[in-house]
Amino acid sequence: MEFVYNLLVVLHFIGLASLLGGFIVQMKSPDKGVNPAMLHGALTQLVTGVLLVGIASAGLVPGEEVDHAKIAVKLVIVLIITALAFVGRKRPLPQTGIWGAIGVLTLANIVIAVFWN
Ligand code: HEM
Repeated sequence: MEFVYNLLVVLHFIGLASLLGGFIVQMKSPDKGVNPAMLHGALTQLVTGVLLVGIASAGLVPGEEVDHAKIAVKLVIVLIITALAFVGRKRPLPQTGIWGAIGVLTLANIVIAVFWN
């Protein structure tokens, strides 16, 4: 099960790259908005994150413990990101506000993931 867990961690980083990359690549664009990379990255973070927590909570990987408060905050943030991404996909460009909010919330989740111990 450790292999599956580590594979999910890799996918968690790919989702992060897609979400943040989709945001950064539009930095100079006049038509900022939610692109497919951002939407799929958000969904990847949600799915892989929940699976990681499920496996760790079940005690299937020795040494992996779950900080429930940290996970709850990350989960709420990713749900807001995902909702914004779906709303953004349906709206005409530019959606600078939605694009910026997703970027800030993504960075917040990275900081929380790394600094909240
Ligand atoms: C935008 C959304 C997210 C971002 C940017 C993000 C970012 C990260 C980063 C950078 C790490 C590695 C840092 C570390 O392990 O110290 C990490 C690990 C982790 N994340 Fe997320 N995350 C997101 C969403 C979620 C969600 C929604 C969950 C759970 C519901 C989650 C659960 C986890 C878990 C369990 C780990 C630990 C993996 C390990 O054992 O190293 N993440 N996340």
